[in-house]
Amino acid sequence: MALFRSKKQAGEAELDNSRLPKHIGIIMDGNGRWAKKRGLPRTAGHAAGAETFRTIAYHCRDLGIPYLTVYAFSTENWKRPAEEVSAIMDLLRKYLLEALEKMQRDGFRIRFLGDITALPEELRELCMETLSVGNRVDAKYQINVCLNYGGRDEILRAARAWASDVAEGCARAEELNEESFSRYLDSRDIPDPDLIIRPSGELRLSNFLPWQSAYSEFYFTDILWPDFDGAALDQAIADYQKRNRRFGGI
Ligand code: FPP
Repeated sequence: MALFRSKKQAGEAELDNSRLPKHIGIIMDGNGRWAKKRGLPRTAGHAAGAETFRTIAYHCRDLGIPYLTVYAFSTENWKRPAEEVSAIMDLLRKYLLEALEKMQRDGFRIRFLGDITALPEELRELCMETLSVGNRVDAKYQINVCLNYGGRDEILRAARAWASDVAEGCARAEELNEESFSRYLDSRDIPDPDLIIRPSGELRLSNFLPWQSAYSEFYFTDILWPDFDGAALDQAIADYQKRNRRFGGI
């Protein structure tokens, strides 16, 4: 069994390099509470959370995990005060611009899950540019950013697209199965997440990848997202590696 330590400090998780998850999904939760505990505005929590996103993205890459999906903005998050929504959009713009510069050098690409057509125009155009540059990168590593994403919305949009193909004679109801339907989802060509992590002590999925997570392993921790770090990720992966995944078999 190939074992390595991602960091050499005592007490840190020892990982089995041959059993790493191929795809990790993260619900980046707890930014607001992190800020409140420090007497800061919620937007400061999101800024700190965005820094954690960068740390964890590079940590996944360094471990050799090819897919990371993060829940950045849900279809329900529009209900938040306009100032908070706008601060999150500004952060997304800042980190996408940084990603555009670094994708080629660092060997990753970015994809989006969710309905990006409803985003502010400037951000939508930046997303399109990020996609087009990413398509030209020889990437071993892919970050999927869920933006204006809701799992139910994704399934409904897929169902509409499929129904339209049926109406046009490009698809047949008798031929619909899990595999063919998956191709209508935003996550087409992305393997299902092996491990889904939710920090901040909340124990729910909140409309994050409900179709894709049918056989995912879940890991919950009380750590607030801005405090989450590489050691916390290693801990989650070590816990995942102890589990016996049967996918309905025995
Ligand atoms: C949930 O915490 C977090 C969000 C809704 C926003 C997440 C956005 C970022 C981390 C910044 C931009 C992302 C990228 C990929 C650069 P919460 O506000 O619900 O926290 P609370 O439950 O403590 O209030």
